[in-house]
Amino acid sequence: MIEAHALTKRYGETLAVDELSFEVRPAVVTGFLGPNGSGKSTTMRMIVGLDAPSKGDVRVNGRRYHDLPWPLHEVGALLEAKAIHPGRSARAHLRMLAETNHIAGARVDEVLEIVGLTSVAGQRAGKFSLGMGQRLGIAAALLGDPEVLLFDEPVNGLDPDGIRWVRNLLKGLAREGRTVFVSSHLMSEMALTADEVVIIGRGRLIAQVPVDRLINQSSQRFVRVRSPEIDKLRDALETNGATAVIEEDGSLSVRGADEVAIGELAARIPVVLHELSPQSASLEDAFMELTEESVEYHGAVTANATASTGTDR
Ligand SMILES: Nc1ncnc2c1ncn2[C@@H]1O[C@H](COP(=O)(O)OP(=O)(O)OP(=O)(O)O)[C@@H](O)[C@H]1O
Ligand SMILES: [Mg+2]
Repeated sequence: MIEAHALTKRYGETLAVDELSFEVRPAVVTGFLGPNGSGKSTTMRMIVGLDAPSKGDVRVNGRRYHDLPWPLHEVGALLEAKAIHPGRSARAHLRMLAETNHIAGARVDEVLEIVGLTSVAGQRAGKFSLGMGQRLGIAAALLGDPEVLLFDEPVNGLDPDGIRWVRNLLKGLAREGRTVFVSSHLMSEMALTADEVVIIGRGRLIAQVPVDRLINQSSQRFVRVRSPEIDKLRDALETNGATAVIEEDGSLSVRGADEVAIGELAARIPVVLHELSPQSASLEDAFMELTEESVEYHGAVTANATASTGTDR
């Protein structure tokens, strides 16, 4: 469990994190979503005591990081800047971390196995690819078998295989009952990974909400229908108060009636259906809707949305 209360960080003129309060619960993956520069990394650094809050506080399992007797046993973190001696092997790096943190040496080989680095454990970390480096960072985060895990942009620079691996790892850790907090500026990735999202903009909380609720409540949700008698169906739907638009490809986009209501209406008319498929809003659409009123925030969202549509998976 992570609890932030009015967490605030000021760097000179910049208010990087502004009265941020949220809770990250165990057994789910919580995404930490916000455009570049919105304060995600700063918040994560404060959670693990690398930055002191200007105001407010954040607790891990009820305690401030500095009050945890063996922090690596309670919280593991993969942060943006990794400090690994390039001449040291992956195994040596993890052994050193284990020794200084009262962690049994056998755990080093365990985490190397979990992240799939066993066969290259003796190689110098300086020669690692970006993906191998991320895996080593994740191994270090897992070393103390902590209940709480933070990952700052863990899929940055990874190939599709690496991205899928990280996604499944995070879900697996949550299934084991751990608290998993993962930042990203890619909404498409968070839609696949997170159960819940904490959304920030300019250091402030915009929403903390389950991903499926965010997507389901969006007005972008509609049902796609195909039928050889599309006009007849459209008229009947409109008579019943739904909005039905025939698209260029000949399909019908229906809002204001769900797939059950449409199917039953079609049976009563009757018209044959060739397709009846609910289309969920993308997390990105739902997010845009959520932040629509926040004019100040808008410029940043637009830039971010472009970035996220660029990664297509
Ligand atoms: N050490 C620092 N000194 C001064 N300003 C900082 C420092 N660290 C962060 N900032 C500023 O605080 C704000 C939040 O930065 P932060 O790195 O937390 O954002 P972020 O959400 O992690 O962004 P990104 O998606 O690019 O990683 C930015 O305006 C940044 O320039
Ligand atoms: Mg960051």
